[in-house]
Amino acid sequence: MIPGKFITLEGVDGAGKSTHLEFVANWLRQQGRKVVVTREPGGTPLGETLRELLLHRDMDADTELLLMFAARQAHLTQLILPALARGTWVVSDRFTDASYAYQCGGRGIAAERIAALEAWVQRGFVPDLTLLFDVPPDVAETRRSAARTADRFEREAGSFFSRVRSVYLERARDEPTRIRVLDARLDIADLQAGIAGLLKGLG
Ligand code: TYD
Repeated sequence: MIPGKFITLEGVDGAGKSTHLEFVANWLRQQGRKVVVTREPGGTPLGETLRELLLHRDMDADTELLLMFAARQAHLTQLILPALARGTWVVSDRFTDASYAYQCGGRGIAAERIAALEAWVQRGFVPDLTLLFDVPPDVAETRRSAARTADRFEREAGSFFSRVRSVYLERARDEPTRIRVLDARLDIADLQAGIAGLLKGLG
C-alpha cells in the first residue's frame, strides 16, 4: 500500500485559507485520491472538545500550547497516521506551523519549548506540503472584521497578527520546499491555478 500524503493549510486569521480547503480536497479527489479533510485544533471528538475550550475559555499561554499539542497527539494517532497508512490523503486546516506562529510569534513562548513538544508528539513526522496563505496585516484585519463573531484569537490586536505572520514567513524561508507561500490577495482563479500546480508536484 502506498501511503497517502499529508497537506496542511496555514495563514493568519483573515487570510482566507478555509475557502481553499475544499478546492484542495476536490482537486485531489478528481485525481482519484481518497481524501479526508480535517482541522486543528480538532479532528477527533476529544480534539473538538479541546477546540471549544481553546477558542473560548481564558487561559494562559502555556496551557494553550499544551492543549494544542494534547489535541494534536490524539489527532495524529487516531486520525492522521491511520489514514495515511491506508493510502488516504489528509488535508488539514492548520497543524504545527500554527503553534510556532501563534504560541511562539503571537504569545512569546520560546520556540525551543514548541520544538520539544513537536519532537515528543510527532517524532520527526511533518507535512509533505504546507500551503501558506499570506496577506498584509491590513487586508487580514479587514477580512477578520467582516467575519462572524470573533473567537479568542481573532480578538487579538493587529500587532499580534503581524508577529504571527512574521514567524510563518520565517519558517517558509527556512523550509522552502515544504512550505509554499501563496499571495492570498490574488484572484481566486489565479490562486487555484497556483495551488493545483503545487499539488501536481506532489506526484
Ligand atoms: P481557524 O483555523 O482560524 O478556524 P476558523 O476559520 O474557524 O476561525 O481557528 C483556529 C485558531 O486556533 C486560529 O486562530 C489559530 C489558532 N491555533 C493556534 O493558536 N495554535 C495552533 O497550534 C493551532 C492549530 C491553531
